[in-house]
Amino acid sequence: MTGTAAPWALLAELTHACPLHCPYCSNPLELVRRSTELAADEWARVFTESADLGIVQAHISGGEPLLRRDLEEIVAAAHRAGIYTQLVTSGLGLTADRLDALVGAGLNSVQLSVQDSDRENSDLIAGRTSYAAKEKAAGIIRAAELPFGLNVVLHRHNLDRLPQIIEMGERWGADRIELANAQFYGWALRNRETLLPTREQLDRAKQTVAAYREKSEGPELVWVLPDYYEGVPKPCMGGWGARSITVAPDGTALPCPAAYAMTDLRPPNVRDHSLEWIWQRSEAFNAYRGTAWMSGPCGDCPRRETDFGGCRCQAHALTGDASRTDPACSLSPDHHLVRDRAVHAGRDAGTAPDFVYRRPGGARLAPAAQEG
Ligand code: SF4
Ligand code: FES
Repeated sequence: MTGTAAPWALLAELTHACPLHCPYCSNPLELVRRSTELAADEWARVFTESADLGIVQAHISGGEPLLRRDLEEIVAAAHRAGIYTQLVTSGLGLTADRLDALVGAGLNSVQLSVQDSDRENSDLIAGRTSYAAKEKAAGIIRAAELPFGLNVVLHRHNLDRLPQIIEMGERWGADRIELANAQFYGWALRNRETLLPTREQLDRAKQTVAAYREKSEGPELVWVLPDYYEGVPKPCMGGWGARSITVAPDGTALPCPAAYAMTDLRPPNVRDHSLEWIWQRSEAFNAYRGTAWMSGPCGDCPRRETDFGGCRCQAHALTGDASRTDPACSLSPDHHLVRDRAVHAGRDAGTAPDFVYRRPGGARLAPAAQEG
């Protein structure tokens, strides 16, 4: 391959359908309809083209990928293309038989999400009864002896239980725990006021992580930067169009899953173009690649090759212009948009959650009494 260096990962979003209603969902406000989802044979072509492009790993995600009845067929196609696969799941609907079938199709690893170590609070955050199903799913994954990652989105309503969350990960047998401080795009921006933690909560959490890393030989901890508080932006996606490709359920190809919300991006679709053309030539993937597009404080900043100007989706969500410096950066002229929210969160600490759940109409409801 000539031109831009090869990507190494594919995020394959098989469906936006999901049994949970998390208030921090980063999927777009307008979800892709099931009738427009790529079929298994279209995914097979995507995996073949991905492998040709140099991609070695695919995150098979959603929504909830287990809702696809043809998931085994899709995983088998990735396996045939020589791509390492990780199933990214809520765990709802995972049975030992289904996991057996997926492993038979070539599945290599699983990442399970959970909302909290406290059963009641986990269900409250997910918007439905689900903790018990997740605990059961963890046992099934462990029994299958697959590499097992746990993902927990952290925010004001679970951050104080971080020690218990880590203990839960150990108990469930996770190899790695991703502690993902909530990011505010897509649906999550609607819940920013109630999800933003206080600085004191974050300071305690950072101490917990540091102490655990020093003394423990347990699961690896991955700490995703809470950028509203750091004054420095995260090197989002490892740079735009630098490392990975997201393919949305309807075949839209994006440099970042949250970029679906950038209405002026005009992303290409795998139904119309090869993945190589998309990666090398498409306007969307080249829009914020490298540093030539930068203006404002990023233009001559020594950190521009390190953080790539931060997050394009955050710049777009908060300023309406994806080419501006990420407001999370203290040098950004828009930094007040982030700093003021963080200060405000400190004043509101202790208030009860008032989640706008991810469900049609975004109802502020107590979790539904459904069995997972
Ligand atoms: Fe990063 Fe731009 Fe801020 Fe410099 S000015 S630290 S490149 S976001
Ligand atoms: Fe899209 Fe950061 S979330 S570039």
